[in-house]
Amino acid sequence: MKPVFKRILLKLSGEALMGAEDYGIDPKVIGALANEIIEVSELGVQIGLVIGGGNIFRGVGLARSGMDRATADHMGMLATVMNALALQDALEKRGVTARVMSALKINEICEDYIRRRALRHLEKNRIAIFAAGTGNPFFTTDSAAALRAIEIGADLLLKATKVDGIYSSDPKFNPDAKRYEHISFDQVLQEKLAVMDATAIALCRDYKMPLRIYNMTRHGDLKRLMYGESLGTLVTV
Ligand code: GTP
Repeated sequence: MKPVFKRILLKLSGEALMGAEDYGIDPKVIGALANEIIEVSELGVQIGLVIGGGNIFRGVGLARSGMDRATADHMGMLATVMNALALQDALEKRGVTARVMSALKINEICEDYIRRRALRHLEKNRIAIFAAGTGNPFFTTDSAAALRAIEIGADLLLKATKVDGIYSSDPKFNPDAKRYEHISFDQVLQEKLAVMDATAIALCRDYKMPLRIYNMTRHGDLKRLMYGESLGTLVTV
């Protein structure tokens, strides 16, 4: 059976790498994540990755307590580079070629993000890891994920989370909260559903990039999604 998607952009949160720790990278977690990504890559799906940096540094918190926001965001971008390098290492230890491409120039440790070069990597089935967000302060890594998904012409943007999808309200506090199977970008914006920030959602809406929110903690779901199973919540125009 052939996968439904040819090229995807997978957004991972930095916190996902912490596992049970409260800081940094858990080698077991990053290893399991790498295995799951490789399983999908082996189906022939081309994979771009964007990873957050919240397990190492949270810019928003420090900015709230007085740090210059642009400086805090620059530090956050550097945190995403560390996570990207760790993921590249975990993938390559398992025999799969991955390339970190950074939106900030740090040539001593990785390539620059150059769109056409990224496309070549993907065509060669290398996993492209897009680091340093968009390279600009005031933009989240969710916005970077939306942007890169559009730039590389992904068939789907996937946001990996610890929950099963988008709910009408927080299921932790409201037992009647219902999960949406399919929802529009406009509804996400109107109801202020905390899925991704408004910039990311608006980008996806304007450029018709389908977005799926899924639970990354269930092993095998990413592969099932590639075969067209409807897990989590799909957001479209
Ligand atoms: P293709 O020409 O795309 O097939 O790739 P290649 O691997 O044959 O050559 P390339 O020169 O693109 O990359 C060789 C190695 O250098 C890879 O490990 C890249 O990740 C690395 N590399 C490429 N550009 C940079 C850079 O600007 N900085 C750093 N640190 N490494 C780079």
